Amino acid sequence: APAQIAVTGLAVMGRNLARNLARNGFRVAVHNRSQARTDALIKEFGHEGEFTPAADLPELVASLEQPRKIIIMVKAGEPTDAVIDELVPLLDKGDIVVDAGNAHFADTRRREDALREKGLHFVGAGVSGGEEGALNGPSIMPGGSPESYAALEPMLTKIAAHVNGEPCCVHVGPDGAGHFVKMLHNGIEYADMQLIAEAYDLLRHVLGLSATEIAGVFREWNSGDLESFLIEITAEVLSQVDESTGQPFVDMVLDQAEQKGTGRWTVQVALDLGIPVSGMAEAVFARSLSGDVVRRKAAAGVLPGPSEAKADVDRDAFIDDVRHALYSSKLVAYAQGFDAIRAASDQYGWNIDLGAMAKIWRGGCIIRARFLDRIKEAYDRDANLPSLLVDDYFKDAVANGQDAWRRVVATAATVGVPAPGFSAALSYYDGLRAERLPAALIQGLRDLFGAHTYHRVDREGAFHLDWSGDRKEQSA
Ligand code: 6PG
Repeated sequence: APAQIAVTGLAVMGRNLARNLARNGFRVAVHNRSQARTDALIKEFGHEGEFTPAADLPELVASLEQPRKIIIMVKAGEPTDAVIDELVPLLDKGDIVVDAGNAHFADTRRREDALREKGLHFVGAGVSGGEEGALNGPSIMPGGSPESYAALEPMLTKIAAHVNGEPCCVHVGPDGAGHFVKMLHNGIEYADMQLIAEAYDLLRHVLGLSATEIAGVFREWNSGDLESFLIEITAEVLSQVDESTGQPFVDMVLDQAEQKGTGRWTVQVALDLGIPVSGMAEAVFARSLSGDVVRRKAAAGVLPGPSEAKADVDRDAFIDDVRHALYSSKLVAYAQGFDAIRAASDQYGWNIDLGAMAKIWRGGCIIRARFLDRIKEAYDRDANLPSLLVDDYFKDAVANGQDAWRRVVATAATVGVPAPGFSAALSYYDGLRAERLPAALIQGLRDLFGAHTYHRVDREGAFHLDWSGDRKEQSA
């Protein structure tokens, strides 16, 4: 029988997706630009299901039932366009091309548009969960037309991760919606990891705990509200001992965080949408600073730190304060992330169900966490919630932790340990809840130097003061 779906691009993610499909009983055609990978897949894993190896794209296309469903899993950017260009002339109206890589959603919108004009479906599908997830059940965020999703749904929901029997896969919205949400997932992943790193750093420097002791702290945190994949693997990384030196593994790793770009895209896009995503922005900046070898070398040991570099804190109390700081800051990062999804959904007319996004992130993906249930419940209570932070659960969680959070930010500043994630999140929280912001002064300054006008609290309209003349107010 002809294959039901194809995968082209058999590096580790593509190979594991193909195996996942085959293991779930689907007939999968497989192709890779260099044949060796296809051969290796068949040789090593051919027994796992029904694979049809194809030497080239025409052969791959010919092996499929119609409408054809072809998953592309190659490097984002030009390589994806190259495969699409080669594939399109071989396809018939109604065929479905799925890009499961980490594409920029603007590229996905462009490609969807181009293929739609040719009568083809293009689905940008976010896939999260790394190698392991691709094989055993990722979180899947497909965009594209509802018709194409209807055709893909039985397969995608079968291979996705499941939580309480429900698949971590839902149609996110048309065109680039799926890749947008995957990008946001990664932005949140960046913020989460930065906050975890700050918690670790503070425990290490303020309390002088060893990496192994901190692993124990994270293990304990993982049994409460913070329970999540990233907290779990933090304990694992921190307890690892370096084989060649006997030192903690984390001490032998160069302290320069790399990035492939999805976190940076998230921040760039959020700037354009006008949504403050300070948690993600600080996470991207912190990675950039860590990699800024030239300036770090010029400043380390040269720029003085605080005269009082010790904090007088109780060990257990401080550990619990840091837990609160981490949780509250995390809530802020998620609130900001969901604000950005809503703004993009409005701008592009995607009609994204925010609660459903929290739901499909509960399993399979890198940011999977217990508290995503709380987000889902918050949107179930009120689909138009202006900010997650004003939902009762979130409000109470932060109210409960805020004093601890403030102490941690103050301690970090006192001893000179950088905590950009914790402090930016706290500033956002205080900004959001302020009755009045100093933005009024900024408006005054803008009006003085540039006649940019201002609005009044007590009357409608735009006004301008004649600053250099008689300082009388005029209607603008
Ligand atoms: C996932 C991940 C993945 C991402 C890596 C590395 O959801 O499976 O988000 O898509 O590529 O986490 O990202 P950076 O190299 O940018 O840290």
